[in-house]
Amino acid sequence: MDAKTRYEQFRRRGRGVLLAIETSCDETAAAVVEDGRRVRSNVVHTQIPLHRVYGGVVPEIASRNHVEMIGPVVDRALADAGLALSELDGVAVTHGPGLVGALLVGLNYGKALAFAAGLPFAGVNHIASHIAANYLTFPDLAPPFTCLIASGGHSHIVRVESYHRFALIGRTRDDAAGEAFDKIARVLGLPYPGGPALEALARTGDPQAIRFHSAFNQGAGFDFSFSGLKTAAVNELHTRKQRGETVKAEDLAASFQYALVEALSEKAVRAALQYGDRTLALAGGVSANTCLRETLGRKCEGRGLRFCCPELRYCTDNAAMVGSAGFYRLLAAPPDGLSLNAVPNLSIV
Ligand code: KG4
Ligand code: ZN
Repeated sequence: MDAKTRYEQFRRRGRGVLLAIETSCDETAAAVVEDGRRVRSNVVHTQIPLHRVYGGVVPEIASRNHVEMIGPVVDRALADAGLALSELDGVAVTHGPGLVGALLVGLNYGKALAFAAGLPFAGVNHIASHIAANYLTFPDLAPPFTCLIASGGHSHIVRVESYHRFALIGRTRDDAAGEAFDKIARVLGLPYPGGPALEALARTGDPQAIRFHSAFNQGAGFDFSFSGLKTAAVNELHTRKQRGETVKAEDLAASFQYALVEALSEKAVRAALQYGDRTLALAGGVSANTCLRETLGRKCEGRGLRFCCPELRYCTDNAAMVGSAGFYRLLAAPPDGLSLNAVPNLSIV
């Protein structure tokens, strides 16, 4: 059967099993997902140990490691699902946003597989995939809803109007939330990636020890700014050191996390209410943060909103979420051609 016939069959049935691939940053991931909701396999090879010595992701090292790992990771995902390529209905691959060299590895591998097996092929937006991680955890969740996306490269509040149409409500004017976490963690001498390490340190600190004010983040709009908060945290550390005072790293971590989580959660809840949605979802790597999950959960409960956030394994980069987003992408529009390129700054709206 050729790709065209397979696609027509998929559209007619409105059902299908996809192989999904994700290589936008420092995880080589592949998954097999049924009907956009059921994960048949989910394999993630993380490169974190390779990049840790440099304190951040080195793009060229990331690309080279993806080249080495993509074959074994995809084979494993198919084997875990107990399926051969010929039994699939399509291939979905992240084609942006992300590191161009890293994206190209997964994209070209996915294209080659789709061509060889006669399968429909679709490029998928990485941010849309993070949002779709919620469909894997909540089988009944369906648009419209409001979603807060906080990852290493992005911080957005979007209105998910349908499975494939998004409206931007707010965004960061400077740093992404994950980027701010990573920078402060680095200043405190914590290992990469800083977010989880800073969260662990903050657990023993006092979130009220240092008050970080931000007129912008407490303002009426829906955009964020984390660069000022980051500078305030660094200044606090330096000023106290110059005065010969000791700063408890755990207090700084807890206070910084508190300020960032407050800004993200207040605006997201306000956006959901203003846009008349009854559900607020959370997505992106920073959604793994317990303080953010709990704070948003509490605020939603207090204001009559349903709160959704993905299981931990679907919060940071993985391919299961690409399998979900890819399913809805392929239902909405015909497959992409094999000339589809990587788009490092691909937007969601
Ligand atoms: O979504 P993701 O895996 O990759 C991007 O698309 O950017 O997000 C990675 C980001 C990193 O900045 C990392 O520090 C942050 O998510 N992160 C966390 C936590 N786990 C991951 N930030 C705060 N607390 C966490 N537990
Ligand atoms: Zn991501």
